[in-house]
Amino acid sequence: MEKIGVLVISYGARETAMVDIFARSPNYKVELYVADKQRNPFNVKKSAKHVVMPDLNVKDICKFAEKNKDRLDFGIVGPEKPIIEGIRNLVEKRTGIPMICPTKECAIEASKIQQRLLFHEIVPEANPRYKIFNPKDYGSQEKVKSAVYKWLDELENKAVVKPDEPAAGKGVGVWGDHFTSREQLFEHFLSNFQHGQVIIEEKIEGEESSFQAFCDGKHITPLPDTRDYKRAFDDDMGPNTGGMGSYKAKGDVLPFLTYSERRKEVTIVNTLFEKWRKTALNDAGLRGVPFYMAFMHTGKESKILENNSRPGDPEIINILPILKDDFVDVCFKILEGNLTRVELERAATVLTYKVPLSYGGYLDTFPNLANKSEIDTPVDLKKAYELTKKHGDRICVYPASLELRDGETYALKSRAVGVLGVGDTIEEARQISLEGMEAISGGALWHRTDIASKQHIQKSAKHMEELRRRK
Ligand code: AMP
Ligand code: GLY
Repeated sequence: MEKIGVLVISYGARETAMVDIFARSPNYKVELYVADKQRNPFNVKKSAKHVVMPDLNVKDICKFAEKNKDRLDFGIVGPEKPIIEGIRNLVEKRTGIPMICPTKECAIEASKIQQRLLFHEIVPEANPRYKIFNPKDYGSQEKVKSAVYKWLDELENKAVVKPDEPAAGKGVGVWGDHFTSREQLFEHFLSNFQHGQVIIEEKIEGEESSFQAFCDGKHITPLPDTRDYKRAFDDDMGPNTGGMGSYKAKGDVLPFLTYSERRKEVTIVNTLFEKWRKTALNDAGLRGVPFYMAFMHTGKESKILENNSRPGDPEIINILPILKDDFVDVCFKILEGNLTRVELERAATVLTYKVPLSYGGYLDTFPNLANKSEIDTPVDLKKAYELTKKHGDRICVYPASLELRDGETYALKSRAVGVLGVGDTIEEARQISLEGMEAISGGALWHRTDIASKQHIQKSAKHMEELRRRK
């Protein structure tokens, strides 16, 4: 078997899944070099070299790559921060190791404004109505307030406030969820406006899907749609999170969408790619998963909520374990610019995350339900791993924000561990994922119980039917 070396820049379970798939490569003996946010127990076990870099600083990552350069064939990056900060440009320049992720110039996840302007130029029909507010254009708070209120008149208040850069001020705010009056909206707006430009866009009513595609700079290979569960609690209550779970149906299309709605997504992304690549083609800047898009389907149109320049966490975990191709070969094809298709098993997959009490505001919302005495006790994954005896490769247990310390595993602050179920139906996959959840003990972890539930899917389907009927 050919031996190769792969550098993985890891944040959480999305990269644990990559590590797992590389380690299980049928064609290659893969030696893994992992730069990780924490001492992830799975990655520590599977890697030849494992280093912890809590801030995933691009300079430190590059030094690690340089040190091991003779043994590395390529690198792959999951999290947005190093991608946005130009890890690909830096590592390729300093070491010559080819990296699978977009270049800094192509990582439009960095700016919501750059995204809207690019879509405006190429696929204007996929943009919600939007207006950009730049602090430089307004001399006083009164002036910007009057401009914001005038725009709200046009949108009939149904607005979403977004800072240009992720994580400035209060972040994305949605009318009806984060504020119910103009005053509250304006306060939210100002908290972001202090840091820079802000977009106020039309709030789109509909159902969301996550679209992802592999890209080799020359071709785009759409992957099946998945549905992410952003809200913290069951029935989509509570604050937005990084994603509490996700599912994929047996085929490419989500159960509440039509083939024609799926085709709209593919057409929009293809159009965007074909026009955009003309400027980005030379250095295959659009490499990796430069199009991971959140779409909102209104029954008539499909609008882009945002684009990410990386694979989704957890959404790519719904895909990687059912790849029929060797992921190493897929990566080589991405680097060579000849990836035109991938083969996937026809299977449904459901991922559920267990998270700590501090995550998603659980402790504040349900103080009496919280099992506080277990906080900071070790997390025991043994029983979950034992489920592989029963389910074989139909279950994958992927540690995320878990840290190995003195031989025990402890939860940190983010999503702790994901369990993927693979099945013939969504329900079958969901039951396996939930069995995995129940088998994990310690650390006062909790999870949503309705990821991919029949009721939730039916609710989405009903909503879409109603929207399609509306004139
Ligand atoms: P974002 O950070 O842009 O992904 O936004 C976070 C969440 O806010 C999305 O997953 C949506 O649920 C919601 N959202 C963002 N933009 C819009 C919009 N234009 N209309 C309705 N909901 C939106
Ligand atoms: N699932 C949300 C994200 O990866 O951004």
